[in-house]
Amino acid sequence: MKEELNKILESAKSEINKTGSIHELQQLKSRFIGKKSGLMSFMKQISSLPKEERPAFGQLVNETKQKITNIILNCEAEIKESDYKKTLKSEFIDLTMPGRKHEKGSLHPITLVWREIEDIFLSMGFDVAEGPDVEDEFHNFDALNTPPDHPARNLSDTFYIENDVLLRAQTSTVQVRVMEKHKPPIKIISPGRCYRNENDASHSPAFHQVEALVVDEGVTFADLRDILNIFLKKMFSENISSRFRPHFFPFTEPSAEIDIICVNCLGKGCNICKGSGWLEMGGAGMVDPNVFDMLEIDSEKYTGYAFGLGIDRIAMLKFKIPDMRMLFANDVRFLKQF
Ligand code: PHE
Repeated sequence: MKEELNKILESAKSEINKTGSIHELQQLKSRFIGKKSGLMSFMKQISSLPKEERPAFGQLVNETKQKITNIILNCEAEIKESDYKKTLKSEFIDLTMPGRKHEKGSLHPITLVWREIEDIFLSMGFDVAEGPDVEDEFHNFDALNTPPDHPARNLSDTFYIENDVLLRAQTSTVQVRVMEKHKPPIKIISPGRCYRNENDASHSPAFHQVEALVVDEGVTFADLRDILNIFLKKMFSENISSRFRPHFFPFTEPSAEIDIICVNCLGKGCNICKGSGWLEMGGAGMVDPNVFDMLEIDSEKYTGYAFGLGIDRIAMLKFKIPDMRMLFANDVRFLKQF
């Protein structure tokens, strides 16, 4: 009897120690000490034994059961421990590892130049004025002394939305809007987007201009040249000055086109200025009295100057950008450099 119990104990021991899974261990448990196990059927034989042998027999079977139970518990603890270690290893998170870096954005070169322009003019006592991109003919043409048969009204230059509604072709529209609302003294700049039907390396159908308008008693052409030169020196460098070429704009008289000394070669001649030593920068002039009259500003009492510069052009020169289309392509490799 004792021998048979020992056999059961030994085989339980070796089978249990072989297993590595909790599921299998449950099956072994019911096989060795469950209700239908060999050990329990042993217990049933107790009634066929003489009374005095029964306690010792019972004790022996219970001891064996206890031993097997202990083996199972030990094994269970070992399996759980090793499973836990495995989980720890496979799900390990290194909290000291540095995080993933998010790329930082940067300001667009036009925004950078736009803000610098505003800063320079604000420091010289100018206000910043704004006007809408979608305009009417009155603000874009009529009030700017541009007669109905003027070539600039041609559909090929200006984007019309419908009859009287168009995308402004110049920031000079804001001159009109400011003079409609305010009487002199006026001293504003107005940076903004303009639209014209042209597209090549130095023209974009949507581009940026900054307009300046100064109206007061005794404002002269010399003031215009002075402010413009101060601006250019602050924007580029002390070496940069401008020259004016006679020109025509309907809303200024006299009018001029502004050239600046080439910021690349300082006038010697290079491929950027195509050998001339000068770069075209915008237009300027004294406000035509007709414009004042239309906007009910006393043209006998007041004079004024205005000029318009290309912001994209300034950005291209400042950052040595060879093609204007790069400014609008939104290529991250390009934008990252600023
Ligand atoms: N609006 C003109 C242009 O776009 C430039 C300009 C502005 C000329 C102000 C004179 C005065 O060409």
